[in-house]
Amino acid sequence: MKENLSPRQLKSFQTRLLRWFRAHKRDLPWRASRDPYRVWIAEVMLQQTRIAAVMPYYDRFLHRLPDVESLARAPLVEVLKLWSGLGYYSRARNLHRAAKEILLHHNGKFPGALDAALELPGIGRYTAAAVLSIAYDVPLGVLDGNVARVLARLLAIRGDLRQPRRWRDLAKTAQTWLACHSPGDWNQALMELGETICTPQNPRCEICPVSKWCRAYELGLTDKIPSPRVKRDAVRIKIAAAILLDARGRTILAKDPGAHDDVLFSRMWQFPAVEVARHPQAELKEHLRATLGLNSIALEELPAARHGVTFRNITLLPFLARVERLPKLPRTRILALENLSRLPVSSATRKIAAAVSHVPAH
Ligand code: ADE
Repeated sequence: MKENLSPRQLKSFQTRLLRWFRAHKRDLPWRASRDPYRVWIAEVMLQQTRIAAVMPYYDRFLHRLPDVESLARAPLVEVLKLWSGLGYYSRARNLHRAAKEILLHHNGKFPGALDAALELPGIGRYTAAAVLSIAYDVPLGVLDGNVARVLARLLAIRGDLRQPRRWRDLAKTAQTWLACHSPGDWNQALMELGETICTPQNPRCEICPVSKWCRAYELGLTDKIPSPRVKRDAVRIKIAAAILLDARGRTILAKDPGAHDDVLFSRMWQFPAVEVARHPQAELKEHLRATLGLNSIALEELPAARHGVTFRNITLLPFLARVERLPKLPRTRILALENLSRLPVSSATRKIAAAVSHVPAH
């Protein structure tokens, strides 16, 4: 496909893709209504998380917090708990802040103007365009990884699509080709095509509704486009974490103790932990002494777990320490290990806790 299609060609391409979308679109929970709040929550959850992983979180979130007002008035810990396990928790913090702003400045209704939407915390160009087009039919084209791949194949654009200049050109194309009479369906049709047919590996060109417009298909280049992203080298990190356990099965969690709070524990409650090098056990002991005042604790090594966060390749090294008394300190919480989920914790913390589940009690 060439970028400057004649109006007739463009029309026929749009009609074909929209017809395909309307006939084949998946029955996803956020498609049940065009309520801007529901669309907004879905788009934020979908930013860095796959559809299958989002579904149960989405239903639970909307059941508990069905509108802007309930979200704005909920305590942040509740929002974080509903998010717990989805990752990238700044999304939840921003949702909460944005809901308060919407309640205060927009009468509780997600703003329909682009500049007002972009002022809200956590709303960038992608989310704004997605919500406004789907909920309010505002003619804004979206560009995410799926749409970029579809457009790049249609136009046989080679090279790294995330390169700023190339990404800007793709955004322009997304806007030029937008079906202005149905922007929400159009944007979702492109995303849906990218997710179900024009997939990164083994695209199903034989059943693609728009293959006859596709330059990459015509030239046999679908497996060369997009070219693989230049990846950062993975950084290997080892984190040793202590599950302190008293005779009543209670443990201690801390806030912000300094071991990768942001990337790994998302500034939520976590086990006492420290990044280690050669001697994990000795280094963790020293950390417990320095931060919790615990001396000469016997640590029992538990099975390690792997955890990947973007380019970081993390090995979690859990250790069990049975203690008579848990220290009482500021910014710590004591609770039964089995009740861990009562506090907002990240998946890394859950993985660490899971290592102890098969250890017999004393
Ligand atoms: N990915 C992100 N938003 C989406 C949507 N609305 N439909 C399908 N896939 C999506």
